[in-house]
Amino acid sequence: MHDFIEEVLLTNEEIVAIAERIGKQISHDYAGKKPLLIGLLKGSVPFLAELMKHIDIEMEVDFMKVSSYSGVHSTGAVTITKDTSTPLVDRDVIIVEDIVDSGLTIQEIKNLLKDRKAKSIRVATLLDKPSGRTVPNLYPDYVGQEIPGKFVVGFGLDYDELYRNLPYVGVLKRSVYEK
Ligand code: IMP
Repeated sequence: MHDFIEEVLLTNEEIVAIAERIGKQISHDYAGKKPLLIGLLKGSVPFLAELMKHIDIEMEVDFMKVSSYSGVHSTGAVTITKDTSTPLVDRDVIIVEDIVDSGLTIQEIKNLLKDRKAKSIRVATLLDKPSGRTVPNLYPDYVGQEIPGKFVVGFGLDYDELYRNLPYVGVLKRSVYEK
């Protein structure tokens, strides 16, 4: 554990087990279909990479980049800064996220994908922070782990672009961002 981490919430082994569980579930739920996994950059990359290894049906992958956060607080406004290159009409889409907090990002992306006539839209997230939810009735379909309302980093999650490379998920010490 690094000295800027207060507590480890998920070890690498636990994350791999989560990816295996969700990968199996997706392979079962989408048997005979060809889902399109859309990873939200940059945070979903490590989880998406791990998850894909455990999906054993035909699937495709694409990416979108949205920005809603600055520092440790959501700004509320969601802007798309990189779009998918795959046509979405009639596709079974699975949005892959690192964490769902307020739910604003997922809500915006879901609305956009509906406008683009995706056939079905589900959400797979490594972490869920339900205490941060401001969007009512927003429940991710595949959740790795529910966590308390603390600011976490690692396995894709950052604080001002740092710590994405940690192989585990941990709570960042407040002293790092309350200077
Ligand atoms: P939402 O729109 O509030 O649900 O926020 C989702 C995005 O906020 C995630 O994709 C993360 O980029 C970021 N985020 C939310 N909570 C945390 C956290 O604890 N650590 C790092 N990033 C977070």
